[in-house]
Amino acid sequence: MTFRNKLCFYLNGTSVEIDNPDPDATLLNYVRSIGLTGTKLGCGEGGCGSCTIMISSYDRTLDKISHISANACLTPLCSVDGKHVITIEGIGNVKNPHPIQERLALLHGSQCGFCTPGFVMSLYSLLRNNPNPSEEEAEACFDGNLCRCTGYRPILDAAKTFANNSCVETDGLDENHEPQENLGCGKADCCKLKNIDNADTTFNHNFSQINFKKYDSTQELIFPPSLMKYVPEPLHFSSNKTKWFRPVNLNQLLSLKAEYPNAVLVSGNTRIGIETKFENIKYDVRIYVGDIPELKSWEFKEDGLILGANMTISHVQTVLKEACNYYKPHQIQTFEALSESLKRLATNQIRNISTLAGNIIANSSTSDLIPLILSSKSIFSLSSIQSTSIKSRPIPSISFWTGYNQDCRESSEILEKIYIPCSNHGQYVRAYKQSKRHYGDRAIVNAGLSISLDHNAHVQEACFAFGGMSGAVVRAPNSENFIVGKKWGEEDVLKQLNEILCEEFQLSFSVTGGMATYRKTLVIGFINKFWYEVIKSANITALSPDIETSLGEIKRSVSKGSQTIGRPEKGNKIVGKPISHVSGMKQTTGEAVYVDDMPRIEALNVPGVKGFFSAKDVPGKNCWGLVLPDEEIFASKEVFFVGQAIGLIVAETKKIAQEAKDLVKIEYEELPHIITIDEAIEQNSYYPVTPQLARGDVEKGFQESDYIFEGEARSGAQEHFYMETNTVLVIPKEDDEFEVHSSTQNPTSVQTRIAETLGIPANKIVSRVKRVGGGFGGKETKSFNISSAIAVGAWHLRKPVRCMLDRNEDIIITGQRHPFLGRWKVGLTKEGKILAYDLKLYLNSGGTSDMSIIIANCALQASDGCYYIPNVQFVGYPCKTNIHSHTAFRGFGKPQAVFVTESMMIDAAERMGIDVDELREKNFYMEGQKTPYNQTVENWCLPSVYQQVKEFSEFEKRKKEVEEFNSNNKWRKRGLALMPIMFGIGFPLPFLNQAGALVHIYTDGSVLISHGGVEIGQGLNTKMLQIASEALDVPLNTVHLMESATNIVINASPTAGSTGSDLNGFAVHNACKILVERLKPYREKMPDKSFQEIVSAAYHDRVNLSANGFYKTPDLGENIFPYFTTGAAYTEVEIDTLTGDHTILRTDLCMDIGRSLNYAIDVGQIEGAFIQGIGWCTNEETLHFPNGSLDIPQDFRIYTYEGAKTSKINSIHSSKGIGEPPLLLGSNVYFAIREAIKAARKCNDNNTPVAFRIPATPEKIRIACDDEIVRKCKTEKKDGEVPWVIEP
Ligand SMILES: Cc1cc2nc3c(=O)[nH]c(=O)nc-3n(C[C@H](O)[C@H](O)[C@H](O)COP(=O)(O)OP(=O)(O)OC[C@H]3O[C@@H](n4cnc5c(N)ncnc54)[C@H](O)[C@@H]3O)c2cc1C
Ligand code: FES
Ligand code: FES
Repeated sequence: MTFRNKLCFYLNGTSVEIDNPDPDATLLNYVRSIGLTGTKLGCGEGGCGSCTIMISSYDRTLDKISHISANACLTPLCSVDGKHVITIEGIGNVKNPHPIQERLALLHGSQCGFCTPGFVMSLYSLLRNNPNPSEEEAEACFDGNLCRCTGYRPILDAAKTFANNSCVETDGLDENHEPQENLGCGKADCCKLKNIDNADTTFNHNFSQINFKKYDSTQELIFPPSLMKYVPEPLHFSSNKTKWFRPVNLNQLLSLKAEYPNAVLVSGNTRIGIETKFENIKYDVRIYVGDIPELKSWEFKEDGLILGANMTISHVQTVLKEACNYYKPHQIQTFEALSESLKRLATNQIRNISTLAGNIIANSSTSDLIPLILSSKSIFSLSSIQSTSIKSRPIPSISFWTGYNQDCRESSEILEKIYIPCSNHGQYVRAYKQSKRHYGDRAIVNAGLSISLDHNAHVQEACFAFGGMSGAVVRAPNSENFIVGKKWGEEDVLKQLNEILCEEFQLSFSVTGGMATYRKTLVIGFINKFWYEVIKSANITALSPDIETSLGEIKRSVSKGSQTIGRPEKGNKIVGKPISHVSGMKQTTGEAVYVDDMPRIEALNVPGVKGFFSAKDVPGKNCWGLVLPDEEIFASKEVFFVGQAIGLIVAETKKIAQEAKDLVKIEYEELPHIITIDEAIEQNSYYPVTPQLARGDVEKGFQESDYIFEGEARSGAQEHFYMETNTVLVIPKEDDEFEVHSSTQNPTSVQTRIAETLGIPANKIVSRVKRVGGGFGGKETKSFNISSAIAVGAWHLRKPVRCMLDRNEDIIITGQRHPFLGRWKVGLTKEGKILAYDLKLYLNSGGTSDMSIIIANCALQASDGCYYIPNVQFVGYPCKTNIHSHTAFRGFGKPQAVFVTESMMIDAAERMGIDVDELREKNFYMEGQKTPYNQTVENWCLPSVYQQVKEFSEFEKRKKEVEEFNSNNKWRKRGLALMPIMFGIGFPLPFLNQAGALVHIYTDGSVLISHGGVEIGQGLNTKMLQIASEALDVPLNTVHLMESATNIVINASPTAGSTGSDLNGFAVHNACKILVERLKPYREKMPDKSFQEIVSAAYHDRVNLSANGFYKTPDLGENIFPYFTTGAAYTEVEIDTLTGDHTILRTDLCMDIGRSLNYAIDVGQIEGAFIQGIGWCTNEETLHFPNGSLDIPQDFRIYTYEGAKTSKINSIHSSKGIGEPPLLLGSNVYFAIREAIKAARKCNDNNTPVAFRIPATPEKIRIACDDEIVRKCKTEKKDGEVPWVIEP
């Protein structure tokens, strides 16, 4: 065999040849290294989609070009020979964007923008295969893309404009894209123009119509003609660590396998890629099998299907569809089940590259393929070369696996084909899966179930295979034996089957993977579903209607959203307009530059490790702290938590640094540790400041109360999961000067901290931020240590040093949202007036104090909810534990506090036997009342907002409908919940409520503004430009903003606390006002002249055309906050009580946002925050080892409240801070789920209060339903057993 040593492919239409590429390199490494930085690294493990690219290839046998989306972070560079790779840069640019890029930008589908190129490429790949997708297909193409900012709705809206069943009008080509007022989002039949559900609404809307660029699929980049003639040749590449071979036919592959028996085969690399990157597994020889036609062919035989082992999962899906049409209905049971099951296997991008063989050989216990392979009695064909001929041996799938991670292959054998037999008459096959997220997630438990019945419904044969119940997929032989010969459909038989299954799967309390009780209930739940589905399909008996309606899994319909928003009051030209994010087009085209996208500067030019730096190398102070000085850049003596930095390795490349890190051996002496809040309470482990808030006399209040209740509520941690991980570049300059580019929310403190760390004055450091790929509070203080550590390296080496944390590093090093425990006691009169509220809030703060004490204080300030309570006693306990140090997260302790107080309200109402809505309304603040921190409640509109939501959501009518639904469904229950919030806007520390800005006007009339805030996706810069444009009365496109930099603007506070627009907006406005005053005489003198002429005249008169603006929030004294933002939400959910699955059917959410600076951006903030809140309350669960890791509403209706007297709001243009408040309403979804659980419990004679710690994961929902199955499966803790993982 002769090998070519050159890799040849096309990239964005241009031929590329690389001599002997590194077999370890991924496509992502490569495209970024040559400056195509639009493709982003978000996770490196196929989980987020920000690295999505498209790969096109020509199939000579089918004479067909195929286009697939793929994760560049997992695709080996060496695998693209003969293919055409298209990155975001290849489809359009700001000057000539692709219609997808344009629509996503103009329809507000990009906030921080880090995820955006990935979304564009997923949709692009769909359109290249199918220019007329349905709305369902347009939505489904994003199942492998995560966005942490937008809440998805605007992205889906933009995508649906390409759908054939969408209402969009795409023909009107308008080169200028000039918005026309009040005509909706641009679709001819736009939902904002239509009244919701065709009911007349009195609300206005203010989205602009955009005549999008027409999408013409014939104008796409063509497949390079020379690649149509491409003849595959064997390839061989090597590095000093590994060899890469690419054979091009089976014979070559088997010869290579015989020559290198220990070689690993690589197909999609979705398993190998993870093993090599995260599990440190090394392979000396890799043989790529993705280009071997024999392994990708398939055949329909008379009695079954033969699939080439290295067909991709997506390809198998297509073939299965064909098979379902090809074979007779009774023959396709397995194919149908497999087809359904594969829809939920991973994501589009993963299914497009990962293969059958890869999944089978990887033999994961939660494989979605293997249970059905087993239950269908599939047969594998193993091949090897012996002498010169190919030898194949069939092996039944049941005998293939011989143990954990072991199978019966000889070292020279490969898996060549899989034969899946057709089902027979009387055979029924189904697949089930339960995961934390419905799509794109691994199974907790899955099943492939098959039975064969005779004509009397007696079972002749059964196969029950379950994933997630052991180290590998396992069958249930006892249950299978029991059921054979029994009559399917007899209730007694089902009962006995449940018993046997329960016996058969004895999981211990401390079982690997945890969730022992839940996993057992899922096994039985699936069997019960199967039981009744077969009864129905086989027509054995009539099912009772409440069972029949509960069958199948919860299905999501295509999501829809509406935004009913008021018109801003007249008078403004630019402020209030729904201008798209100013960087939107740069973000959708991949041209927006983030820190890691900045070109490599002359760095460390000799290969290898450059240095290791630890505490002793810090030239200045190694220790700092906002409240307590306990934060070390590098641990000096003791390590308090996993993830605490000990030192910094600087190397020529990230890869070398990471390899060097793996060689470092650290010996730890394990000291006693505290992980949970309960352990901290038990051991009295708190940080030494205990914030308190009190008013009145709580004891007296309790004495006067008719009812006194006590209880507790708990919430879990939440990972920020900003799409851009913490990134920093430090460039040393002459004279001890340093230039720092980082992804911080707080450039000023980065400057201060680095100055202290290096022991040099702050005036030597310029800290710059252009844009940040999401922050959510996680880059407020947590970016300091990282930038300071990198600065230490740059200080010693006198060279630029950069660092972008990998996702796993970022998660482990930086903290999260604090888990909370609230213990409460409340006293009420029999009329429902709350007289006294005693609350202790415990927050798991982790190994350093960070901002925990301030967060505890803020939480106390939110603990009154929206209610006037005359006597309160609130205390916050920041618990000192040995987990990573928790930090700010959108809402700053208030979401947790409000969750606790709303739980108290619901609990109290339930115990009093009254409706919680009644209790709320009786206790709402009234205008002029004081909060416990003595702030007067003014401009109070919450009760009206609350009423508005009730009205628009048809509160009473839907309550009745839900009751009816619940009585007609056995295993499906619905729940409804309403929830109000108030949120004080402003920093809790008065000195932070200030901002600076600098505005220059140049003689050509163009304006440059700078402010101290940071664009983290929230549209701050867009709003600042609008404010400047309005104030100076100049067109928006003449105003520009470059970056935030500490040498331009000082007096800057972190961009946090929903204060960015108010503080910086006023500062910009004030600077502009100064300039307006200076230009006034010229404007009056020259009324007909252009702005440029006016400015020029002023310049020649030596008028200062630059002004510094400053702002500090006035009247902060008694009032902590300048104003409150209020809102309410009403949510309806449906749960599956057999699995714990849920879906959000509809949310009506109303926010009082004052006179919005930009409605489109504010709606984006509302949606994004609410969806993030839902994540916190439902499926984002952080678990720790004891010794110390898309579900949006199907119908999402947003309203803004227009009744408030905006003139009285102490804010810029009477707008209101909106970045955080809607997040608090995320717990509304939890409360709706709780109502659904209550309905389920009622059926099981359990009327006790529902209480579990959020998030409401499927496990918690299922267990809380507390039916007979749960009771039967309950796994008790035995003496000495410890749980596998715990919630901190
Ligand atoms: C983000 C993500 C999400 C996922 N979600 C799911 C999920 O929901 N459900 C699920 O079931 N799986 C899931 N997976 C696992 C995924 O299905 C497997 O990683 C994939 O099927 C492996 O296929 P591959 O072609 O990429 O294998 P590779 O990584 O290329 O190879 C895997 C193994 O198969 C061997 N191999 C490949 N071809 C042959 C052959 N012809 N003969 C012998 N050995 C061979 C290789 O040597 C290697 O040992 C997920 C993976 C990722 C990364
Ligand atoms: S999927 Fe590739 S970076 Fe996240
Ligand atoms: S815009 Fe999607 S992650 Fe920020």
